[in-house]
Parts: sequence; structure tokens; C-alpha cells
Amino acid sequence: MKRKKRILSGMRPTGPLHLGNYAGALENWIRLQNDYKSYHMVADWHMLTTDLEHTDRVREDSIRVVTDWLSCGLDCRKSPLFIQSHVKEHAELHLLFSMLVSTARLQRNPTVKEQARDLGLEANMSYGHLGYPVLQAADILLYKADAVPVGEDQAPHVEITREISRRFNYLFAPVFPEPETLLTPFARMPGLDGRKMSKSLDNAVYLSDSPETIQEKLMTAYTDPKKIRLKDPGNPDGCVIFAYHKKFDPKTAPQAECDCRKGSLGCVAHKKAIAAVIADFLAPVRERHRYYESHRDEVLDIIQDGDKRARDTAEATMKEVREAIHMG
Ligand code: TRP
Repeated sequence: MKRKKRILSGMRPTGPLHLGNYAGALENWIRLQNDYKSYHMVADWHMLTTDLEHTDRVREDSIRVVTDWLSCGLDCRKSPLFIQSHVKEHAELHLLFSMLVSTARLQRNPTVKEQARDLGLEANMSYGHLGYPVLQAADILLYKADAVPVGEDQAPHVEITREISRRFNYLFAPVFPEPETLLTPFARMPGLDGRKMSKSLDNAVYLSDSPETIQEKLMTAYTDPKKIRLKDPGNPDGCVIFAYHKKFDPKTAPQAECDCRKGSLGCVAHKKAIAAVIADFLAPVRERHRYYESHRDEVLDIIQDGDKRARDTAEATMKEVREAIHMG
């Protein structure tokens, strides 16, 4: 029998998940979990690249991420949900892979370069930060993933993963697949201010926000600044409320667009309507969230079970790897 194709997906535990995480990743993962054998990983070791001084929060944040995943509908019976640092094989494979890629290659990575620029780290980026795409390659190949669902910014890392896989297979033995990139279709969800939705920019709608909070937040959202009075004709391009409208109620968006341009749809009414749409959409998520928050032991059991299933696969791969390199 042909084996079901595999996916490895990963997310850094940055705190409670928001609509941007949902549209940019989770929604896709949920869709793919039926067609692929999926492994879903909380990438806690990856947090060390940028959050060394907040490690006291990482354990709780990781549990929180899994709680949010379950609330959104990731099915832990189908797919292991696990925490990277609980499967030590990631570290071992990372060490071996770090020998198979040049520092010049890593320095050319556009996503790492951009991060260095944004964080002002050009001169003193850590060795681990420069090498995190290699750790990511280990994350992916440990599970012999055939595909990796990511946003555009992560595509360069999958490319490095493919190169490392080829190099390992050529030098030692054909152990690894060459995983393909599954680009997330709806990658960029704007935050309330029109910039990318992100916790650090304080412009996010969280999956666990109450309907009241959602409405309050949407009232502050960026809309067409030239539309001042209700009857002014507006321009939906760049309007955050329209982006949400298209995402969460695509059928009625064209009519609203038309009404906005004509000046028969006011921003306040539109904001209220879309706040209600989002609140409805999130109602079942919120309900499951409440359940898992009051059943923390269940979440911890799910993680423990996910860790074990991930470890079984990781150990089997490492056995092949150690044999191929005649070590360990
Ligand atoms: N680097 C990814 C991010 O910042 C998270 C991640 C870690 C990941 N390991 C992975 C994503 C493996 C996909 C596959 O979003």
C-alpha cells in the first residue's frame, strides 16, 4: 500500500493565537489533515532565537498554543500535536545537518536577513539564530515530510531543507524525501491598523476574544480615511473591514463593496456587521476553548500522547541516519 503523504507543520509559541495565525496557517492545516498524515509541532526551541529573556513563559505559551489548535479543530486523534523540545532527536539531527550547509548559504537567506534588519542584529546575530533554518530542516526531515505548509516568508527555509536533504542522501544514503512547499493561500491578514496582524504590534483580534471585545476592537479599525460622513463614497481597497469581510463572509462582500463606493454603506454600520460575523464565526472556537481551559489535564495528556507518537517516528528516522553515517 502506498503510504499517505506526510506533512510537518510548525508554529512558534508566541502567546494566544489571533485571526492572522488562523488565516495564515491553522485554517490550511485543518483542511490538510484529512489528506495527509500530519505532525503539528510547537516550535519552542525556535523561540530562543529572539526571546532568550522570556523563557519563563515558553512552557505556558506552548500549552496555550495547543489549546488554541484544539479549539480551532485540529484533531489530535488524526495528527500528533507535540512540543519540539520534548523530542530530543531534533537537536541531534540539527547538529549533523549543521555540517551540510555553508555559513555563506545561511547568510544569503532573505527571511533571516530581514529579521536581522528589523531587530537591528546585523552585526551580532547569534550562531543559533543564523542557523534556525537548519533546525527547521531537522524538524521537517525527522518526520520525512513530503510537504510543508508555510507562508511565503518561510519558503526559503524549505528550500534549504531540500538542499540539505539532497546533500545527505548523496553523501550517505537515501534516507530523506525532498519536501515541497505548500504555500498558504490567504497569507496576509491585516491587523486593526492595516499593518500585518501581530501580537507585538497590538493590532490583533484573538481567537478567544468575546463578541464585545471584537466589536470594540473593530470600531478602532482602519478604514478609508477620506470617507468621513456616512454618505461619502468610500474606497474599499486597503480598508481593514473589507479584508475581514472578504475572508469571513465572501458572498456578501461584492454587494457591500458596491454600497461603500456609492456612499450608501457607513463605516460604523459595516464595522458592527463584520464584528458580528467574526463573533459568530468564532463562537464554536470560543466554546471549545472554554472547555479545554477548564480541562487542562486533558490538554496535557494530548501533548504527552503527541510527544510519544512524534518520538516514535523521530527515533526510527534517527536509527537510519546513525546507520548511514556510521555513528551513534
Ligand atoms: N520558523 C517557523 C516560523 O517562524 C516555525 C517553524 C519551526 C516551522 N519549525 C518549522 C514551520 C517546521 C514549518 C516547519 O513560523
